[in-house]
Amino acid sequence: MNRCQGKSGNTFTSRIWKGRDKLILDSYNRAFSYLRLSLLPVCNFRCVYCLPNGNPKEALHQSHLSRPEIRRLVSALAELGIRKVRLTGGEPTLRPDLVEVAKDISGISGVEKIALTTNGYRLAEQAHELKRNGISAINVSVDSLVQEKFAVITGQDRLPEILKGIRAAQDAGISQIKINVVVLKGLNEHEIGDFLLWSERAPIDVRFIELMPTKDNGEFFAKRHLSLGFLETLLPHRGWNRMEREETAGPADVWDKPGALGKIGLIRPYSTNFCNSCNRLRVTSQGDLQLCLFGKGNLPLRPLLQNDAQREELKSFVLCALGQKNFSHSLHEGDYGSTRNLAAMGG
Ligand code: 5AD
Ligand code: SF4
Repeated sequence: MNRCQGKSGNTFTSRIWKGRDKLILDSYNRAFSYLRLSLLPVCNFRCVYCLPNGNPKEALHQSHLSRPEIRRLVSALAELGIRKVRLTGGEPTLRPDLVEVAKDISGISGVEKIALTTNGYRLAEQAHELKRNGISAINVSVDSLVQEKFAVITGQDRLPEILKGIRAAQDAGISQIKINVVVLKGLNEHEIGDFLLWSERAPIDVRFIELMPTKDNGEFFAKRHLSLGFLETLLPHRGWNRMEREETAGPADVWDKPGALGKIGLIRPYSTNFCNSCNRLRVTSQGDLQLCLFGKGNLPLRPLLQNDAQREELKSFVLCALGQKNFSHSLHEGDYGSTRNLAAMGG
């Protein structure tokens, strides 16, 4: 049964490429090996660009995928070629069974890597346990290295404990640590040099993210958006070189510098690489497949996650849906889709 009716009617052109590794390809031949799975839609921070007024009421009452549903989802997607799973939120560490979820996923055949995106507030206490249960990469949001500014941007005066958490992750042997910095005009743009120094001196990758528009942040976006094009000049000036893109690389442009312990990444939603290199499926905490960060409408997978016997049907549904994925978002036309904020789907 072809359950995904839509724009392209019943014709769909995604397929599975059975080369050395199995991969799902969409109709533009992009390969999807990476799942971003939101574990719950709420967060305990109130970042000014994301949840300035806190969690939307409806998010507080949504039920989220259970452990068996997650296991069925990831098992089916791993059979389609998903190799890396990133657990996101909202704030995924607010979920009491996070460690068990990670453990379940690490036991699924085909999954090679589990990563976590967090605001870091529980990292100091949890780092070792996370590592023991299969999490080998962590992204932490740190939008400012100045305590007061961090508090203004995130609504939480917790910079020292977040930095302690990052050290704990290093001590636990989590080798891949990335710091996400959303660059904001007039707020933290002057700290770019400090972040570059951090990445030079510590084995930490800093990723500068250009502010993205969402339904909820219109006014803020107009005031604080800063195109990161200028970093393409600044980085070489400071000795950083753009690395060659690997075929499977995601949307970040990565830079390194001789002698530096970390790397720099640039994530620019308005740049051409952003969509060309899309390699990820997104599933919300309620089990909706989201084909694009700035897309419209979700495709509910939850009805197909109710028992193990539905696996083949679920795989066909995902393949069919992917065939309808557009080549690009429509940000350039001022259309940023129906996403209210990125906390709903993990950035
Ligand atoms: N623009 C850019 N990045 C955002 N994030 C959340 N909302 C936005 C936005 N509007 C980032 C967070 C976090 C990641 C999950 O997504 O800073 O690092
Ligand atoms: Fe929470 Fe991340 Fe949104 Fe900040 S950006 S409010 S930490 S979900």
